[in-house]
Amino acid sequence: MTDVTLTNATLIPCDPAQPRRIEGGWLRLSQGRIVAMGEGPMVGEDMGGRVITPALIDCHTHLVHGGNRAREFEMRLEGASYEDIARAGGGILSTVTATRGADEAALVRSALPRLDALLREGVAVIEVKSGYGLTIADEIKMLRAARALAGLRPVRIVASWLAAHALPPEYAGRADAYIDDVVIAGLRAAHAEGLVDAVDGFCEGIAFSPAQMARVFDVAAELGLPVKLHAEQLSHLGGAALVAARGGLSADHVEYASAADAAAMAAAGTVAVILPGAFYTLRETQAPPVEAFRAAGCAMALATDCNPGSAPLTSLLLAMNMGATLFRMTPDECLAGVTTHAARALGLTDTGRLATGLRADLAVWDIEDPAELTYRIGFNPLHCRYFEGRKC
Ligand code: NIG
Ligand code: FE
Repeated sequence: MTDVTLTNATLIPCDPAQPRRIEGGWLRLSQGRIVAMGEGPMVGEDMGGRVITPALIDCHTHLVHGGNRAREFEMRLEGASYEDIARAGGGILSTVTATRGADEAALVRSALPRLDALLREGVAVIEVKSGYGLTIADEIKMLRAARALAGLRPVRIVASWLAAHALPPEYAGRADAYIDDVVIAGLRAAHAEGLVDAVDGFCEGIAFSPAQMARVFDVAAELGLPVKLHAEQLSHLGGAALVAARGGLSADHVEYASAADAAAMAAAGTVAVILPGAFYTLRETQAPPVEAFRAAGCAMALATDCNPGSAPLTSLLLAMNMGATLFRMTPDECLAGVTTHAARALGLTDTGRLATGLRADLAVWDIEDPAELTYRIGFNPLHCRYFEGRKC
């Protein structure tokens, strides 16, 4: 791998231990890492004063899935609710049918345009969940497809086991048997294949209870896998408290989280992953308690939640804009939410900041101020991306 020094840049380290902004900064990249950084004149590739941030991290996606739900989008516009559609066998289950019908290669093929859209905005790390197979074989197929993406593009994929996403029709009325036969047995099999980086679940009235998720989390703990949860999205069920009690990576959505949840999450180091794309698409009215997270010192990340139902969103920059406009997150919070806090939400300590020793995954932007990333709507100022020290 060639060494490169990037000079005359405005560095935005996204690292609480460093200045917020370094004018006339330089970075030396070697062997895929940042090996030195500083301020002032230096010989190297002149970046013309451009802004360099850590490459962005999308810490919550359902990028791999079959089909689309454009028809349900139309039904919702005509008045049907997300929960009505789910109860009528549509929603997640219609994507399950499409995903079961696709082989691994087809899943990879259909995910690539969505992946490319994220990469074009400076993303280098993408979390991808299973959850539309709901059989052991189909869930594993999804995670194999997710892993395969990293061989096709300069991207790092972090995979989550989300078999506890919906109850498939063949288990109607037998949710606990589904947890045992598919969620837990499949987790063991997928983990043995090296396919699982974390264990997720959908803890909601239309999905699984905290008690059911606790059983899955017991097995995650036994296997040494971190946990996270789709929690408090449509109602307050106790998922955020559960994931905090287990020292989990993140509680995601969290519209209905309480101040007590925020305090428990802060104490546990559990990140609040804010997903404004789903809030926007579902025309929700309950905003996540951003002020309570802030007051409690609970880190907030932002992600696309890219999925065919509640968030057909493939722009992390737009998610940042929505985080600010819909939830009053500051531009600094939005940027931290897709860099340093997103890394934390994935349990990654080698990325998400500009610091020596970390991975040389960078985004170079044609902007003057980092707040422009959050402020503009539908505009992509990416100049180029570095992945493991290589320009791409
Ligand atoms: O994160 N909340 C559950 N899961 C997804 C939606 C999945 C779907 O509608 O297909 C979410 O919003
Ligand atoms: Fe999700």
